Amino acid sequence: MESILITGGAGFIGSNFVRAFMQRYGQVEVHVLDALTYAGNPENLPSEIHQNPRFHFWYGNVCNAGIVSDLMQQVDTVIHFAAESHVARSIYDNVVFFETDVIGTRVIADQVLRNRKRIKRFVHISTSEVYGSALTQPMTEQHPLMPFSPYAAAKCGADRLVYSYAKTYGIPAVIVRPFNQYGPFQHLEKCIPRFITSALDGKRITLHGDGSAARDWCYVDDTCDALMKVLEAPLDAVMGEVINLGTGTATDIETLSHAICEQVGRPSVPIDHIENRPGQVDLHVSSTDKAERLLGWRARTSLEEGLARTIDWYRTNQDWWRKLEWMKHVPITMTSGQVVMH
Ligand SMILES: NC(=O)c1ccc[n+]([C@@H]2O[C@H](COP(=O)([O-])OP(=O)(O)OC[C@H]3O[C@@H](n4cnc5c(N)ncnc54)[C@H](O)[C@@H]3O)[C@@H](O)[C@H]2O)c1
Repeated sequence: MESILITGGAGFIGSNFVRAFMQRYGQVEVHVLDALTYAGNPENLPSEIHQNPRFHFWYGNVCNAGIVSDLMQQVDTVIHFAAESHVARSIYDNVVFFETDVIGTRVIADQVLRNRKRIKRFVHISTSEVYGSALTQPMTEQHPLMPFSPYAAAKCGADRLVYSYAKTYGIPAVIVRPFNQYGPFQHLEKCIPRFITSALDGKRITLHGDGSAARDWCYVDDTCDALMKVLEAPLDAVMGEVINLGTGTATDIETLSHAICEQVGRPSVPIDHIENRPGQVDLHVSSTDKAERLLGWRARTSLEEGLARTIDWYRTNQDWWRKLEWMKHVPITMTSGQVVMH
């Protein structure tokens, strides 16, 4: 690997990945393509990275085949994070989700195909949301794909689009399905940062429904480590494969919110229940077998330890998140058609 294109590298997982990757692969040229939507922020990457001569930041849209084509000529490896990523936002307005997540992925896959002599590996970041709610526990990669939300449907389309390119054209694609991520630099619209920042301020926390919806929470550093293992694994072991990235344990939102308040030192913060979000997934819990078999990877950070690190980061980086507070709550179209702020 001499040069890599990282799309969405100014977002939450992408920026954590760029940091970890540049630390491990000091000699590789890194090209980040990011449209800097409300979720992207160049400040998510430290100034040492911006000043590193091996780092190149390109402001642009993955749907623009001209820009993607220019960049694709300069790299041998691609990892595609760029997406609209918030389930709740996709319920109110999904236009940009289908544009970026599906059409943008088609542009990337197509340019990988056109440059197939040079591109050695293409890692597509899908999501556990493509499965819908768990019909079997834990959820293996064979679990039916029954996306509940427009976000999940768009990501499912992208996931299967990449798979079809691997099958039809033999592009060197690997599809990974991370389960719910948390850690530093995550936007306040997402549940864990929302809970942490509310608890830090001693403000009430609101939970959707009865709080029993459970997710497999995976610390972002562990995921970045797994993604580097996907880049390092022998190509014939991973090419055309789908790999879940999760911990194998689910924790419900009610338990999670209490754990956060305890760890923040605000156990008496009020936790209120509001109307459930339409299309809510009841349970996600990942099988860890395939990631262990193909990558030798298992998540190492316990939820307690990951939360402690995340809380510490939000406690000490208030300049970063205070300006995002107005985006903590998102309009949602309920099944009645009424729009409410959640
Ligand atoms: N956060 C999670 O819990 C989670 C879980 C599983 C999978 N994923 C997937 O991981 C990837 C990254 O998620 P995240 O949480 O870091 O998202 P994020 O919303 O924090 O970041 C997305 C990044 O993509 C950029 N972007 C958006 N539209 C673009 C476009 N048209 N062209 C170029 N750049 C664009 C944004 O500016 C931002 O920097 C996504 O594909 C998401 O679906 C996320």
